[in-house]
Amino acid sequence: MTKLFSPLSVRAITTKNRIWVAPMCMYSCEGKDGVVGQFHLVHYGERALGGAGLIIVEATAVRADGRITPWCAGIWNQAQVEAWKPVTAFMKTQGAVPAIQLAHAGRKASTHRDGSGSITLAEGGWQTVSSTDEAFTGYFAPRELETDDIRGIVDALVNGAKNAVAAGFEALELHAAHGYLLHQFLSPLSNHREDAYGGSLENRARLLVETVIAIRAAVGDDVPLFIRFSATDYREGGWDETQTAQVAKWCAEAGADLFDISSGGLITGVTIPSGPGYQVPLSEFVAERVEEPVTAVGQITDAAQAEAILQNSEVEVIMVGRAVLRDPHWPLRAAAELGVEVEWPMQYARGKFAKN
Ligand SMILES: Cc1cc2nc3c(=O)[nH]c(=O)nc-3n(C[C@H](O)[C@H](O)[C@H](O)COP(=O)(O)O)c2cc1C
Repeated sequence: MTKLFSPLSVRAITTKNRIWVAPMCMYSCEGKDGVVGQFHLVHYGERALGGAGLIIVEATAVRADGRITPWCAGIWNQAQVEAWKPVTAFMKTQGAVPAIQLAHAGRKASTHRDGSGSITLAEGGWQTVSSTDEAFTGYFAPRELETDDIRGIVDALVNGAKNAVAAGFEALELHAAHGYLLHQFLSPLSNHREDAYGGSLENRARLLVETVIAIRAAVGDDVPLFIRFSATDYREGGWDETQTAQVAKWCAEAGADLFDISSGGLITGVTIPSGPGYQVPLSEFVAERVEEPVTAVGQITDAAQAEAILQNSEVEVIMVGRAVLRDPHWPLRAAAELGVEVEWPMQYARGKFAKN
């Protein structure tokens, strides 16, 4: 048996394999109200049919001002909860664990659908908020959150977590990566606050750790809580692997269960290495320092490559992004390539790989 196709249990969930679909924004809520629709059902449904063990749906905003674009998905109100229900229900029928990435985009919110910078209030944009009033390069400046406003961010993330469970999601991920709000607080490059939420590592991590404690208290012991970190800003004096591992430990003590390691996104003008498995060393760095499972993501496109990462490192899960956009059945194909017998959707049995 391969490690890639061995199950993994975290709190109340067990995933049938270790191929998880990475969160990917689809910018496809056509009503610009954060309510998902037919596209999301078909898109996530197809990836569930494709054999993934767990699917983390796209960065989903916990407040209207936390959306990256007006077309982003939300989980702050009941209409959004109802709209997610058929999507999570279908994923479960295919044996995929439905998970959601809870997000607030902070100073990287209110942008065009194609990612080309800020949109004006007149175009349907909004005033963004952040740890500071410094803009992300090329974007409009955010408003610095007052200390008292920070409670509202924690409350929104907790409300999003409770709504997500009500919508049928069985695992939660906090988006603390890619330069979005939680990462803006973590990094010394984007957090120059002088209150209890800025300065020392402990202070910069306070918002995240308080959120983990509050979500754990709100959702109880069964629901796994993952954290996605960017393990480095790729700049001297910025956020890095050592800080990531330390904060991951604090998050684990606070009730988090797994760390999803990515990189970059906070600032422009840095060189991000590229190539097969380019972020695996970052995952390994964290995995060697925490007790909880750690995932690897980034240009993992091939079944043998994925299996080798699991065999040769302490990484426990492979997340696949763009390769499952190219081929929603990537997990079924990977099983065939590794010679592992897995169950196919019965409707597709006559098309099973490697049998004419
Ligand atoms: C279309 C698209 C949307 C993405 N949206 C998100 C997102 O919502 N949240 C997130 O953490 N990462 C997001 N990412 C990053 C992916 O989760 C993943 O980390 C990245 O694509 C590298 O993995 P890959 O090489 O397998 O694609 C997105 C990537 C793509 C291609």
